[in-house]
Amino acid sequence: MNATITGWGKCVPQSILSNDDLSSVVDTSDEWITSRSGIKERRVSHVNNSDMAALAGKRALAAAGLDASDLDYIIVATCTADRQIPSTACYVQAKIGALNAAATDLNAGCTGFLYGLSMGHGLLATGQAHKVLVIGSERISSFLNLEERSTAVLFGDGAGAVILEATEESEGMQATLLGSDGNGAEALTAHGVGTEFIGSEMDTAIVMDGAEIFRNAVVRMEESVVHAAEMAGWDLEEIDLLIPHQANIRIIDAVRRRVGVSEDKVFVNIHRYGNTSAATIPIALAEAVAEGRIQPGYKMVFVAFGAGMTWGAVALEWGSRVDPIETIDDDLPEPEMTALEMVLANQKALHT
Ligand code: UT7
Repeated sequence: MNATITGWGKCVPQSILSNDDLSSVVDTSDEWITSRSGIKERRVSHVNNSDMAALAGKRALAAAGLDASDLDYIIVATCTADRQIPSTACYVQAKIGALNAAATDLNAGCTGFLYGLSMGHGLLATGQAHKVLVIGSERISSFLNLEERSTAVLFGDGAGAVILEATEESEGMQATLLGSDGNGAEALTAHGVGTEFIGSEMDTAIVMDGAEIFRNAVVRMEESVVHAAEMAGWDLEEIDLLIPHQANIRIIDAVRRRVGVSEDKVFVNIHRYGNTSAATIPIALAEAVAEGRIQPGYKMVFVAFGAGMTWGAVALEWGSRVDPIETIDDDLPEPEMTALEMVLANQKALHT
């Protein structure tokens, strides 16, 4: 039995925050952000994380030609849940009307979507589920601190989703490799968020040892691609499309060069969205299909590295369909503020 992707979808909020917008309120510049990270702009959400997740999920359901009632499991990979209790997945379950589905969140930082695929595969393989919605969704803008310029310029909001179904065909997930090292927890963490901080004076901010994360990301992502391909029985030259986590174009380039994959076989959209953590890979996947970058039978590798530290790769052979069965017209409501107004309002609310 293999787990194959039969539906895909994304939801990115409408409001765009450009590097120049950020430079007007943070001591930074378009030149620094572009040259150090490859990011030109990112999205800022005016709705809850679960609203973006639900819409990405609905679009993935339509692409698979399924009703929400067909789902028996919803997994939301996120580190920016709407609330600590209940899970974001339960809000999604209600918002899409998935009457027959179990629902849970998982947090593996930027590697979360790949952990979700692994979990979904396991549920299908053991017969505990037949149709699984796996979502990566983040509203990181809510706890960014503009005073932490080394992280405030990197992250953005958005959601992506896939439907996983069991198949007897040879397509689908061929190999999964996941890892973690909690000794590196302090290298990327959110201060001021979580029970540890209740009642404390600590300000909210994502803090990161950028160089440490960068070094580890390059090594772990390279290893993960190589091992996942090997486990799938593929030579590295056989990879048709590599979809890496979008954290930094320099990390993506370093991994690509070390693995020996040509530039045209790597999907990159970091310039449009920045780092949307668990959402980068499913957003990129939805865009890759829409842009005709995926053909039937393509050998693909997804690879990620993130907070935890966590890392992983999934080798997947695409099925025979590259067109959605259906599409839907639903959209997010129109935002009432610009992206810059939203981040400034957030800054005022959180940090004064
Ligand atoms: O999603 C998974 C987790 N995240 C990642 O994978 C990200 C990993 N790390 C990185 O992408 C990079 O380390 C960064 C983009 C965060 C930083 O790039 P860097 O080349 O490692 O820069 P740096 O941290 O070494 O900082 C270089 C300089 C410093 O100034 P000094 O000390 O050399 O005078 C920083 O203060 O750049 C300064 N700097 C900035 N300047 C303008 C840091 N942030 C900014 C900024 N604008 N936003």
